[in-house]
Amino acid sequence: MTAALLSIRNLTVRFHGERGETVAVDGVSFDLNAGETLAIVGESGSGKSVTMLAVMGLLAKAGVTADNIFGCGRNLLNAGDVEMRAIRGRQIGMIFQDPMTSLNPVLTIGRQLTEMFEIHLGLSGAASRKGAIDLLNLVGVPSAGTRLKDYPHQFSGGMRQRVMIAMAVACKPQILIADEPTTALDVTIQAQILEILSGLQSEFGMAMIMISHDLGVVAGIADRMLVMHSGRIVEQGLVDDVFANPQMPYTRSLLAAVPRFDLETEMTP
Ligand SMILES: Nc1ncnc2c1ncn2[C@@H]1O[C@H](COP(=O)(O)OP(=O)(O)O)[C@@H](O)[C@H]1O
Ligand SMILES: [Mg+2]
Repeated sequence: MTAALLSIRNLTVRFHGERGETVAVDGVSFDLNAGETLAIVGESGSGKSVTMLAVMGLLAKAGVTADNIFGCGRNLLNAGDVEMRAIRGRQIGMIFQDPMTSLNPVLTIGRQLTEMFEIHLGLSGAASRKGAIDLLNLVGVPSAGTRLKDYPHQFSGGMRQRVMIAMAVACKPQILIADEPTTALDVTIQAQILEILSGLQSEFGMAMIMISHDLGVVAGIADRMLVMHSGRIVEQGLVDDVFANPQMPYTRSLLAAVPRFDLETEMTP
């Protein structure tokens, strides 16, 4: 038995606003094992993004409580800002839901990519430039060498998503967190992005957490899934088992909205 790469116990996240307290995540516990793809599904507002932002140390500490957040061999719950910054990017890569939070509009793509190598891996000059070109090639950005001097707004949505994936995997992290990585894209581009993610995962041996409200995406890519509803995990299991035999009415209602062409039972009378 190997220990989980990421282990979260009883995570709760509260926000205080004008209308009082919101419990966005309410006692969530789960593990991520080496090499696996875990999907977190659930409707908008169910707490998927906030769960992972809390794990990454990107929320105000005061609102986050847990019995344990253990990741990459460390106690992340008590890690300081400097330690968390080193872990983010280097050991845990994240593709954020909002593309514009991860790409800086006033820096060229090349600058942003080479910065990843410089900060985390200590590379410079030609080595980091070569690393940036290799990465863009890997995620399928054409003419990578000449595009390094372009700014984010000069890339299409699909190309921008490829750049964000490149940045997230630049340091070959152990864990990649992808928050709705295909939601804003049209269907053909979605399929290409999912293929790139699967390819990178097998190439680098990363574990992946795929956040999605789209169960079609989950069916194609994930091994295991958690279903979130109102800040709680209401169901979890192997994707095949949950799809074949959902236990909770909420999960059944989510599944009812998804066309499935790969269930033979549906095709046989
Ligand atoms: N910064 C914030 N301040 C207050 N409430 C927030 C904040 N971020 C998220 N929330 C609330 O937390 C809940 C969960 O949000 P989120 O995790 O983003 O949902 P999703 O499952 O769609 O990713 C929602 O009710 C959302 O409105
Ligand atoms: Mg979200």
